[in-house]
Amino acid sequence: MELEGAVVLVTGGAKGLGLAIATHLQGQGAQLIVADLDAESLGALPESIEGHVLDVTCPDDARAMVKEVAERHGRIDILVNNAGVIHSEPMVNILNPAEMMHDYDRFRNSITANLDSVFIMTAATVEQMVLRRTKGVIVNISSISASGNEGQTAYSAAKAGVNAMTVTWSKELGRFGIRCNAVAPGFIGTGSTHKALSDTIIEHIQSKTPLRRLGHAVEVAKAVTALIDNDFMNGAVLNVNGGLTI
Ligand SMILES: NC(=O)c1ccc[n+]([C@@H]2O[C@H](COP(=O)([O-])OP(=O)(O)OC[C@H]3O[C@@H](n4cnc5c(N)ncnc54)[C@H](O)[C@@H]3O)[C@@H](O)[C@H]2O)c1
Repeated sequence: MELEGAVVLVTGGAKGLGLAIATHLQGQGAQLIVADLDAESLGALPESIEGHVLDVTCPDDARAMVKEVAERHGRIDILVNNAGVIHSEPMVNILNPAEMMHDYDRFRNSITANLDSVFIMTAATVEQMVLRRTKGVIVNISSISASGNEGQTAYSAAKAGVNAMTVTWSKELGRFGIRCNAVAPGFIGTGSTHKALSDTIIEHIQSKTPLRRLGHAVEVAKAVTALIDNDFMNGAVLNVNGGLTI
């Protein structure tokens, strides 16, 4: 799909990878709409990017926002499901006998933030694409953790679910002219990575990565652009991980 003039909605685009994706797509001529929980970071976006405060885990709010955006712009061509929350918690933590097992509420919260959110936003957007008979592209931001990362039961399960939904939708939505693909980043040098992981762990990850470094946010953004650009890509999960496998 041609990016010039395309109406693109990026979730979680107020900072981190989402902001890099939004900025990169805008640089290719797209009209950018960003939906994010973080009102303060939304306020710091350039005026050329339309910001909306939205919790993408809330179906009614998501449906209303997407409908309003589609009505005002005439359509939504592309949805990038980027909003997510990295959550690390081992199944058993013997160093914390009082709370040794993985907490179930935190498990559910991670699944809601990383999996339900993708379902909710895709349902709201595809509804508008189908009703308006516009062809479209969905790009889900998955993770290397989808293959099962030690210490990340919930997050890994959620991202594996994102991959499965990506393939399912590529099969179901192709008949409407809607393609669905995913990008699965490895470890990217974003604020969230540095917040979630100690320097020692980051050094270890780098030493295990064939390219011996973390990825750059723009490298994920370029993969998103490639999936949008190539009209025969459908149901792909594109790894952007420097050759690291876990
Ligand atoms: N950073 C990495 O190395 C890395 C690696 C693999 C996958 N990912 C994935 O990339 C995506 C972006 O990660 P990031 O590192 O930029 O994280 P981040 O925390 O820097 O940014 C995430 C953004 O999503 C928003 N968000 C979170 N929950 C939301 C909700 N319920 N509703 C609306 N907005 C919400 C946050 O406010 C934030 O602006 C996530 O899906 C993450 O799982 C990141």
